[in-house]
Amino acid sequence: MYQLPGIPDKWKWFPEARYGLFLHWGPYAALGRGEQILFREHMDPAAYEEAACKWNPKRFDAKKWAKLAKSFGMKYACLTTRHHDGYCLWDSRYTDYTSMRQAPKRDFVREYADAFRTEGLKIGLYYSWLDWRVPAYFDGPDKDPDGWAEMKKYIYGQLEELLTGYGKIDYFFFDGAWPRNRDELESEAILRQMRIWQPDILVNNRLGISTHKVGEEDPGSDWDLGDFGTPEREIHAERTRLWESCDVTTQRFWGYSAGEDAKTSKQLLDILCECAEKGGNLLMNIGPDGDGEFPPQVVANLSAVGDWLTRNGEAVYGTDNGDFTEFSTHGRETSRGNTLYLIIKFWDGNPELRVNDLLTDVKEAVILGTDISLSVRREDHAVILSGLPKEKPEALFPVIRLTCDGPIRTNEWGVSRNWQGDPDRLARWAEKRGNSVWVRK
Ligand code: GLC
Repeated sequence: MYQLPGIPDKWKWFPEARYGLFLHWGPYAALGRGEQILFREHMDPAAYEEAACKWNPKRFDAKKWAKLAKSFGMKYACLTTRHHDGYCLWDSRYTDYTSMRQAPKRDFVREYADAFRTEGLKIGLYYSWLDWRVPAYFDGPDKDPDGWAEMKKYIYGQLEELLTGYGKIDYFFFDGAWPRNRDELESEAILRQMRIWQPDILVNNRLGISTHKVGEEDPGSDWDLGDFGTPEREIHAERTRLWESCDVTTQRFWGYSAGEDAKTSKQLLDILCECAEKGGNLLMNIGPDGDGEFPPQVVANLSAVGDWLTRNGEAVYGTDNGDFTEFSTHGRETSRGNTLYLIIKFWDGNPELRVNDLLTDVKEAVILGTDISLSVRREDHAVILSGLPKEKPEALFPVIRLTCDGPIRTNEWGVSRNWQGDPDRLARWAEKRGNSVWVRK
């Protein structure tokens, strides 16, 4: 990621961090079927609002959340201050649909920001442009100019509250822009103002679809505003700006969903390593339950990843992307300068491991978290590591650190693999097999 030119110093913490915690939490958590139950189940809005106003998560303890997030190895967090249902987790003076004015009588955003900052995590806030209670959002400025202007004031006022009343906000995650475009939302002007309130802030790319109107042809510049890209439940590297993939610790929903299975710790770790390998961040979500507790299985699985990070974190935090050679049959690769990390997903007990196509010589090879150092020899286009123990030396994925004697370089095979580059290379390789396949004819 440091290969990306021109990242200002004030933003360097972000690629350095690599791993953050997304928190989807609001009155919907008490209903236990995801964050969009109001819309997805066509709930009676009045019944939803009544339940929301009574929602009172007595066990919510921001300090406990922050300590857990830290123990998971996460370096920043992002809390849903207002999701699409419009309920606000802070003391907003623009509405009484807030945790301060309804049953809890608490400013959850303040508790969150204070506690997470105390644990040394960077503070992120999520805010949904759309609010299902506001028809003007869907009608748009042409159909309902007055409603639109009122709604814009509401959004602007709330952003001002969030960005001026809670100390330093490092990161902001807009969501739910569709179907509005960035001209209607005036997101460029809003972005400028946000940088006045918070000069160092990083803002995501969900700032309105491109300037076309819904139904018109899309000129193809969707989501190009903003400081970082946000592929959702997929890992998609951006080449020209920072990016962060977001994903769930469960299977489908962001908000708490009773009975949903948790991803295993290996699955969670693999997602993190894939993001690092491709040069981006991971924002991993928890949907705390209606009382304010993290689901126990999610805590156990994220703790195992956090534990792994205490021994192997140097292969993730602040790394550059990897994937230098075709290594998918063993695991993943990340790098930092002349150091190459081999993250072994499939430990097969073989005493030798071939790293094909690496041109740079390796001075030293060690297994992180152990005192095992491996012997290294070169065979044509491969570096062979030997002395690997039969038993897997690490509960999740063992990491081998290769200290190279110069910048990591690979041959054409490392670069082009099977589906790219000059097909002559593959023809020559196929020739070596001869025509034995025809013999049976
Ligand atoms: C999607 C979901 C929304 C969630 C968001 C997180 O947009 O609809 O509920 O908050 O993803 O990125």
